[in-house]
Amino acid sequence: MHPKRGKFITFEGLDGVGKTTQLELLAVRLREKGLDVIVTREPGGTVVGEKLRAVLLDSKTSGLSPLAEMALMFADRAQHIDEQILPALERGQWVLCDRFTDSSEAYQGAGRGLGSETVRRLHKTLCHDLQPDLTILMVSDPASSVSRARLRNTQKSQESSLDENRFEKENLAFYKRVHEGFKQIAVREPQRVVKINARETVEKVQKKIAAAVEKRLGT
Ligand code: TYD
Repeated sequence: MHPKRGKFITFEGLDGVGKTTQLELLAVRLREKGLDVIVTREPGGTVVGEKLRAVLLDSKTSGLSPLAEMALMFADRAQHIDEQILPALERGQWVLCDRFTDSSEAYQGAGRGLGSETVRRLHKTLCHDLQPDLTILMVSDPASSVSRARLRNTQKSQESSLDENRFEKENLAFYKRVHEGFKQIAVREPQRVVKINARETVEKVQKKIAAAVEKRLGT
């Protein structure tokens, strides 16, 4: 095992808030400081996970029950943790992950109404209760982030055969519940979760994220 375990940073928020852009920018910044950084995502991040992602996000997947959806999200995560995240941390790498269990708590727990406790219990059982060292929660208003995500995914599906629109077909009420779910996690765990206003420019948001990483993790 590497003498110094790496750090685990997750990015969370509604679809279309600019998480992925910010995560990539942070990776560049941390690499410039000499850190060994890997970037990954959920659902996805492993060969098995990318297959599960296709089932979960494809809008042709119809009739998936909320519990089955949650089980697949956790199957993806369990594989991701054992195959990618834990080995990387043990090698001393920093892991930046686009979404993690907070997304299950917000989307399946709050959005689908399955409840936080169910999600947190599954996390303990299936994910070794692995907690991020820091979570960047990017906050915007549900209406504008969803319309951005819809636009982006329509463009993506015109350019390729990829259709990742299943969640974007949900109505605004669903996204409002997800938004509240994220907010409650931030209130419950202020030591781990830093809220960042996603409505500012990419540069301003990046500066705030960099400052939070420096303050919380000393880098
Ligand atoms: P992602 O590709 O990160 O979408 P975006 O770039 O639009 O933010 O995530 C795909 C979708 O999967 C997103 O709508 C949220 C959903 N999701 C869950 O519902 N539960 C989960 O546990 C995870 C990881 C994602």
